[in-house]
Amino acid sequence: MDQHALPRFPADFIWGVSTAAYQIEGAVNEGGRGPSSWDAFVAQPGRIANGDTGAVACDHYHRYPEDIALMAQLGVNAYRFSFSWPRIQPGGSGAVNPAGLAFYDRLVDGLLEAGITPSATLFHWDTPLELEQSGGWLNRDTAARFADYAQLVGIHFADRIPRWMTLNEPVSVTMLGYGAGIHAPGLALGFDALPAAHHLLLAHGLGVQALRSAGAENIGIANNHGATWPASESEADLQAGGLYDNIANRLFADPILTGAYPESLARFLPPIPDADLGTIATPIDWYGINSYNPTLVGAPTAGTGGSVDGHVLDGSLPFSLRELAGYPLTDFGWPVVPEAFTELLLGFKERYGDKLPPIYITENGAAVNDGPAADGKVHDRRRIDYTAAHLNALKAAMDGGVDVRGYFHWSLLDNFEWAAGYSQRFGLVHVDYATQLRTPKDSFYWYQELIRHTRNA
Ligand code: NOJ
Repeated sequence: MDQHALPRFPADFIWGVSTAAYQIEGAVNEGGRGPSSWDAFVAQPGRIANGDTGAVACDHYHRYPEDIALMAQLGVNAYRFSFSWPRIQPGGSGAVNPAGLAFYDRLVDGLLEAGITPSATLFHWDTPLELEQSGGWLNRDTAARFADYAQLVGIHFADRIPRWMTLNEPVSVTMLGYGAGIHAPGLALGFDALPAAHHLLLAHGLGVQALRSAGAENIGIANNHGATWPASESEADLQAGGLYDNIANRLFADPILTGAYPESLARFLPPIPDADLGTIATPIDWYGINSYNPTLVGAPTAGTGGSVDGHVLDGSLPFSLRELAGYPLTDFGWPVVPEAFTELLLGFKERYGDKLPPIYITENGAAVNDGPAADGKVHDRRRIDYTAAHLNALKAAMDGGVDVRGYFHWSLLDNFEWAAGYSQRFGLVHVDYATQLRTPKDSFYWYQELIRHTRNA
């Protein structure tokens, strides 16, 4: 079989692309934007590959009309972007910045004119610095500030934004930002980071309520998930794998979908009032899954806990991340295992049953760093291979009864890949950071054809 032959998706399936504010906007000191936790983090020597920062990124703040035109050409019917909280509320509370709202007015109106559904995330990691300096997500008050922000954005945009997400990947904020120190704010608290998870969950629940009271509908969250495989069948590896799975896959999903934390994590959390659990489990309309690859987990090894994207983890962790051998790797070193995507989705349905609302794949994609070839084109065959294989795997899960309504590819553009800076390229469109020239890659035309084919099927 041609590995790019794709199964039929429903004609009303949503095809989209994803981005996030700090990764593409740039213009960090323009239009009244306040500083974020990431502006402070990237300024610290040694934190980001090559000393890169998001100060300019893809200059999307100025070039958004060109980026909307690219999406129209691509043929997507939805665009997942994030609001920059410090662009809208520079201090994270109180006064609103009208120029910030005006930027997103232009973006949202431009998308609607192009027939593209704006699908907005309220928080994709850029915590207003003032809040971070007061403890950030370790401080319960940040959840209340988030609710105020959600309400004001909801009031302003509810009539024009038909799909909402509260948070993006709060487990990354918790574990990479406060646990391992690889992301902002750069704290390495290990399991003592878990109170941040509770406050993020609280922010999510309060955010859903605030959005609804502002008239917004169709509200979800984008959480990252991946199949967890134990390194062996030994008791120690199974136990370590189970604990890791609870953190990676259940810490955020269980409280939202079932109203309870996984038991194994309760001991790392402060006593939780029942009312909080009720707030966190406020019903959502759909559940967003970001997924890239499975993880192989074993019992702790002497010395290190393994590594995440080259950052060595603390050896005192109760698990260690192992190398998953025998699979192709993306340029980021992530294993390409499409069947694990099917396994993840089927497992999700089995775990949550009727409690699981319809799913959107809010991110999936691959770092493939090919640049323009002699013919000026970008022949990113491996991104096409990755995406085709994962769409086949997705369809297999749908055929197995998982209710998936749409797929958002990460990402529209090459962009600022957090600790990896600009060294990893996830875009369907190549960005030359020196000139800001955008070049659609082969994968762009492939995705365009796929969307066209599905619509005409
Ligand atoms: C997770 C994040 O949501 C996004 O910001 C990031 O760029 C991609 N996945 C790839 O790592």
